[in-house]
Amino acid sequence: MQQGKNLRFPDGFVWGTASSAYQIEGAWNEDGRGLSIWDTFCRQPGKTWRGDCGDVAADHYHRYAEDAQLMADLGLRAYRFSVSWPRVLPEGTGQVNSRGLDFYDRLVDALLAKGIEPYLNLYHWDLPQALEDRGGWPNRDTVQYFADYAQVVARRLGDRVSHWLTHNEPFVAAVVGYLFGEHAPGVQDPMAALAAGHHLLLSHGYACEVLHQEIQDAVIGVALNLSPVYPASDSEEDHIAAARYDTVLNRMFLEPLLLGRYPAEAMELLGAFFPEMRPDDMRRIAAPLGFVGVNYYSRTVVRNDPEALLIGATQVHPEGNDYSGMWEIYPEGIYDLLVRIQRDYHPDNLMITENGICVPDGLDLDGRVRDPRRIKYLQDHLAQVHRAMQGGVPVKGYFVWSLTDNFEWAYGFNKRFGIVYVDFQTQKRTLKDSGRWFAQVIAENAVLA
Ligand code: FCB
Repeated sequence: MQQGKNLRFPDGFVWGTASSAYQIEGAWNEDGRGLSIWDTFCRQPGKTWRGDCGDVAADHYHRYAEDAQLMADLGLRAYRFSVSWPRVLPEGTGQVNSRGLDFYDRLVDALLAKGIEPYLNLYHWDLPQALEDRGGWPNRDTVQYFADYAQVVARRLGDRVSHWLTHNEPFVAAVVGYLFGEHAPGVQDPMAALAAGHHLLLSHGYACEVLHQEIQDAVIGVALNLSPVYPASDSEEDHIAAARYDTVLNRMFLEPLLLGRYPAEAMELLGAFFPEMRPDDMRRIAAPLGFVGVNYYSRTVVRNDPEALLIGATQVHPEGNDYSGMWEIYPEGIYDLLVRIQRDYHPDNLMITENGICVPDGLDLDGRVRDPRRIKYLQDHLAQVHRAMQGGVPVKGYFVWSLTDNFEWAYGFNKRFGIVYVDFQTQKRTLKDSGRWFAQVIAENAVLA
């Protein structure tokens, strides 16, 4: 490796991996865990690839110690995981299941013993089914239930966990869950989706208040799925369509959180579908943030399409770049995105809370997992993050999605994102070449350009 070509990161840069409860834990009916909307959704025919579900997943509930050891071997400084709400409160509210909390106690202690900083995310899409039965996120009561849940977790773990995230990708939870119906709970209703989106944001604000009350040194963020939107052509219609798409995908979440208002264009486009809002809502949503979490995988290219649902814009898949198992590979997109966030919202602290790629990798005959496309993807994206940082964007950390292969929602076990390979028959873990590469990046605090 030529030292001169290394892209160095600042001292103290936070290198981590990210995961979520339903995607890795398994143990769906152990130690008093209640059902989540994903347990229900997966059991409906045709909702996930091959009918896969997270009943066992990567068996992390039983193998957390082995996984923490893998993290330590990689040299991870931080680990982002989510807590399963129905493990802690099987009915979503009311009776606390202390055995569920015990698991996160053990996990946090295992991380801290190895010098790995926990980044605890409260919600990664696994709403307790009991709360969905009461109306789910479209029901405003869920906001208070979430704040109460945040308090329960904070009281148990707040003495050891200081980095918190409220939500992962509220856009996806609201839109893919309640408008497209491709994720749990599988609803297709624009009013429900808009209400869910507003209540997810509001619950973030409520949870911030609770966490700050409970934990003096809490640093609280939220992870948003963000993607720069480009027009498919130079036509004026496509430019306007791209702006509409951007409003709904990015600005509708960034602006309430960082500026305390919905974009006027969103109100014009979707005003008829918005739920009731109370005077204090926007102030609460805009609670001061410790960091903005950016989940980036790909860019979005759209063309004008008057027929398209609600916003008159359709995503297209341009030729010319490589595609992963799911999306176009476009590293410059993360640069454009970071620079734009900085320009429009100037947050003090940004973290890349997810970035990664699925490729159909597997064990070679010699037992090694060669995944050069993943290495290239991570390397190219980190180079763009570094470039944005050189330009003054305050990125403080980077989390690869994901440590291990896991349950990829509607795609089931058909998509592998891990830097550690999992044989789902035996649950054996094998470090991929990308894992070895990432360990070296962490050790050197630098990426080869
Ligand atoms: C993100 C999700 C995460 C994972 C990756 C591939 O949208 O937050 O759970 O599925 O995509």
